[in-house]
Amino acid sequence: MKRIGVLGLGAIGSVMSRILVAHPENEIFYYTRTPKSKIKIQFQDKKLEIPINSEKERSEELDWLIICLKEYHFEAAKEQLAQLIGVHTKVVVIRNGIELKASITPFTKGENILECMIDCPTQPIEDNYYLQFSKPILKVQKSELAKRFRALFVKNDVQIIEVLDYKTENWKKLIESSALGSILCLTGRTCSVFENQEVVDLFKNLLREGIEVAKSDGAIIESSFESEILHKITSYSKTKGSSMLSDRLTGNIIEVNAKNGAIEKVALQHKIATPINDTICKLLRQINQN
Ligand SMILES: NC(=O)c1ccc[n+]([C@@H]2O[C@H](COP(=O)([O-])OP(=O)(O)OC[C@H]3O[C@@H](n4cnc5c(N)ncnc54)[C@H](OP(=O)(O)O)[C@@H]3O)[C@@H](O)[C@H]2O)c1
Repeated sequence: MKRIGVLGLGAIGSVMSRILVAHPENEIFYYTRTPKSKIKIQFQDKKLEIPINSEKERSEELDWLIICLKEYHFEAAKEQLAQLIGVHTKVVVIRNGIELKASITPFTKGENILECMIDCPTQPIEDNYYLQFSKPILKVQKSELAKRFRALFVKNDVQIIEVLDYKTENWKKLIESSALGSILCLTGRTCSVFENQEVVDLFKNLLREGIEVAKSDGAIIESSFESEILHKITSYSKTKGSSMLSDRLTGNIIEVNAKNGAIEKVALQHKIATPINDTICKLLRQINQN
């Protein structure tokens, strides 16, 4: 049996729990902040309730810890991380943003940490259920650790893509999602906002700032990337939103430091001017103060 801890039982923690319990050789330990007795998740019209025994004793250290927190949760979770991460515990960090290892390196060696991007839209619905819209797609750096991570799942429950250059993939996702997400969030509009050429120009300039910062950090961004993303936004449905827009509309904290704030931080380190992104960060932080 593999002893696996899941830290954070929100949308993504519930998705990960759903697919981890399906493997007969996994023993799952759940770690929440707000106590709950069950994980409730719906996928493809099937509702599943997973009971949580918060008193469950763990005699040995965890083999794996799967962290499903938002970027702004990590600071207050330090004590818990120190308790949950043993010398041999492998840690998977699943969240938006870049440099996902940084918040875990105080607790274990870098070789025990796997950074993970997830594509799996999931949102809370009535009766404390989460609605998962699609099969999760996880992207990780191709490695021995990734191979061992893959073995925790039943084959068809998840798509795990092992990429050769995680840093570049991670930056591409960040550049696109922060430019798109911040514009939708600040205008309060869906992708219909891109019918206005001035907004498309703003989007393009934001992409350019992000690309320059990414390159300075060692990401390999081809010259075709900008036009590919610009083409992509013309193909999006006018009603498409983003997590940043949803957070604003529902009054949740916007993950600034996992999005535009992550670009701002690296730009500062590499002394690259990003005036549009900086202004956007100030406005987003202002919304979070309200
Ligand atoms: N949801 C999606 O569709 C989606 C898709 C792709 C990527 N992501 C990314 O995945 C990451 C996680 O997002 P999410 O949507 O799962 O967020 P979420 O629904 O807010 O879940 C985070 C959970 O962590 C819990 N938590 C916070 N501090 C904790 C602590 N110290 N100990 C234990 N639990 C703690 C929160 O508990 P409380 O209940 O007490 O608040 C909450 O349930 C984010 O970076 C997000 O952007 C999300």
